Amino acid sequence: MVYCNFLTLNATLQAEPTVLAFAGSLRKDSCNKKLINQAASIARELGAQVIQIDLKDFPIPLYDGDLEEAEGMPENAKYIRQLMINSQVIFIASPDYNHSVSAVLKNVLDWTSRSENAERSREAFQGKKFAIMSASPSKSGGAKGLSHLRDILLDQKAIVLERQISIPYAYEAFDEQGGLKDLNLKSDLYLLIEEALKTE
Ligand SMILES: Cc1cc2nc3c(=O)[nH]c(=O)nc-3n(C[C@H](O)[C@H](O)[C@H](O)COP(=O)(O)O)c2cc1C
Repeated sequence: MVYCNFLTLNATLQAEPTVLAFAGSLRKDSCNKKLINQAASIARELGAQVIQIDLKDFPIPLYDGDLEEAEGMPENAKYIRQLMINSQVIFIASPDYNHSVSAVLKNVLDWTSRSENAERSREAFQGKKFAIMSASPSKSGGAKGLSHLRDILLDQKAIVLERQISIPYAYEAFDEQGGLKDLNLKSDLYLLIEEALKTE
């Protein structure tokens, strides 16, 4: 049921859509990292070229205008921004911290909304398709934080898919292999990725 329309979908895909995928958590056992792993592997199955990064591998100082003026954009921020610019589709799995995005994720979005000349720049966002998702141990699955993430991305003129997914009770939601146990959620994630990879 979940994977039944693979062949029909492939016909409507771009040759090799380029996707960047990351989670807004640094934690080793992060449920959002598990979710982004699943999203990335579905996209690869569907023929997309996916670059997946762990933000823990790319530490970036908190945005500070003085630092930017003195030293320019940090190398890791430049790297992530360039990956975003090179991608047509971006998947973000966002933890819900006090019903908003994590500081780590907001910091990445703040730096990447700047140019290397220390000016406002939408190049990493504008016209790109974003699929947003969340996972949390709560009943809501972190859905409230996604409305903040959506607003931030829309303000940068990104195309944010209406469809989104939140995984509730996320500490019990994944099996030993990192797969989603609930078939309905698995199917919802598949639909989200399928929509993200579709051409207009
Ligand atoms: C500062 C802080 C605030 C949090 N606020 C919320 C919240 O508002 N809603 C929620 O569902 N979970 C909240 N949580 C719980 C997180 O969803 C949980 O820690 C989750 O595991 C974080 O994502 P990760 O597993 O990807 O690291 C909060 C956690 C922290 C540390």
